[in-house]
Amino acid sequence: MMTPKQVERIESGVTGLDELIEGGLPAGGVHILAGGPGTGKTIFASQFAYNAASKQGKKVIYATFEESAEYFKRNMKMFGMDFAPLESAGTIRIVDLDALRGKELESNISLLLAALEEIDGRILIIDSLTALLIACETAFELRSFMKIIYRSVKNNNITTLMTIGTAQSGKLGPETFLADSVLMLENWLDDFELKSRFVVLKMRGTNHSRKYHSVMISQDGMHVSKY
Ligand SMILES: Nc1ncnc2c1ncn2[C@@H]1O[C@H](COP(=O)(O)OP(=O)(O)OP(=O)(O)O)[C@@H](O)[C@H]1O
Ligand SMILES: [Mg+2]
Repeated sequence: MMTPKQVERIESGVTGLDELIEGGLPAGGVHILAGGPGTGKTIFASQFAYNAASKQGKKVIYATFEESAEYFKRNMKMFGMDFAPLESAGTIRIVDLDALRGKELESNISLLLAALEEIDGRILIIDSLTALLIACETAFELRSFMKIIYRSVKNNNITTLMTIGTAQSGKLGPETFLADSVLMLENWLDDFELKSRFVVLKMRGTNHSRKYHSVMISQDGMHVSKY
């Protein structure tokens, strides 16, 4: 039997983070990145995707819902991540779910699963799950969506990162109970300055940091500090 320590880990791509979580995100897990507006969820998710595809040679499906694929790529280029060559090489596929807005939820799910199968994707990013779930008209639809996604990724050992937009209260939904880990980004006001911090709320099989860590975003992307 494998002990948790032997579980393969996928580097987060966010400098400073892996040492807080025993080397990276457990492979094959469903990971949730929660945070308020503008806390850096998309930057984090793209660093994870970019690092896995460019440094670890993993096949990645990046589903974007809130931003078009073109806007996303242009924006991330400013942080030194050029997705175009990875896309041409077939290492990463950016799926523009926004283009399907208003369509049946099933169309979104089938598109994702087909894309994963076509390139034999090992990593799935959904940015954001919140936007996708708003498209669910009933609680039943939402539950079936989560079930299908969880079953497919777990059966195929696909490492999944989904972002969730939280309101200021930071209340998390039931999807976080199913997840293997929950990472949280927060903006907070320190006197007259808006600061950002990061905390790992849970990560199964991992002796993770339980502290808040400062987050810096610069033109080199996101960095999580030791303290
Ligand atoms: N060049 C930069 N240097 C420093 N910080 C930046 C830079 N560009 C963007 N930011 C910060 O990154 C934040 C946006 O990051 P990102 O789009 O990843 O957030 P998000 O959590 O995905 O937002 P949303 O809730 O809109 O989806 C901005 O609010 C800003 O604070
Ligand atoms: Mg975003």
